[in-house]
Amino acid sequence: MPRLSTYFIRAALLHLGLGFTFGALMLWNKGMPFEGRLWLLLNPHIEMVLVGWTTQLVMGVGFWIIPRFTGENRYGRVRLAWAAFILINAGVITASVGLWGNAAWLVLVGRALELSAFISFAVHIWPRVKPFAETKGV
Ligand code: HEM
Repeated sequence: MPRLSTYFIRAALLHLGLGFTFGALMLWNKGMPFEGRLWLLLNPHIEMVLVGWTTQLVMGVGFWIIPRFTGENRYGRVRLAWAAFILINAGVITASVGLWGNAAWLVLVGRALELSAFISFAVHIWPRVKPFAETKGV
């Protein structure tokens, strides 16, 4: 597995851990109410499990397994994928803090960073989405 995939997947696991912890706290508080402000974790929970965990896991595994090129530069334009890694994590953290603190401008900045990550990853991976030479016509 390439180093960047390990970074993507480990970061995704951190989002999973924190996102599930937020979910568990809300669930506990739903059954045995003890702190109403825990509901402020709902939107950060959604952000972390949907974008930080699920989407980032897909990017990490995709960077690893989607067909490589032959020759020296096997993974293509790797800088774009590194940019996606930094942007998606900065975006999820910024948007989550904004959602928790009810700061619309922070949420907007976070979402813009996430969108840039998706675009950067898509531009990176597009030329690698190709059939194998031996499966011509299939
Ligand atoms: C990948 C896994 C998960 C995803 C994609 C996910 C996603 C979501 C979404 C979209 C909502 C909002 C639902 C709505 O407003 O109707 C939500 C709410 C919630 N989630 Fe999760 N979640 C996940 C895992 C978990 C886990 C593991 C827990 C608990 C340990 C949890 C606990 C909750 C709770 C308590 C709510 C609030 C439910 C309510 O409004 O009463 N979630 N989740």
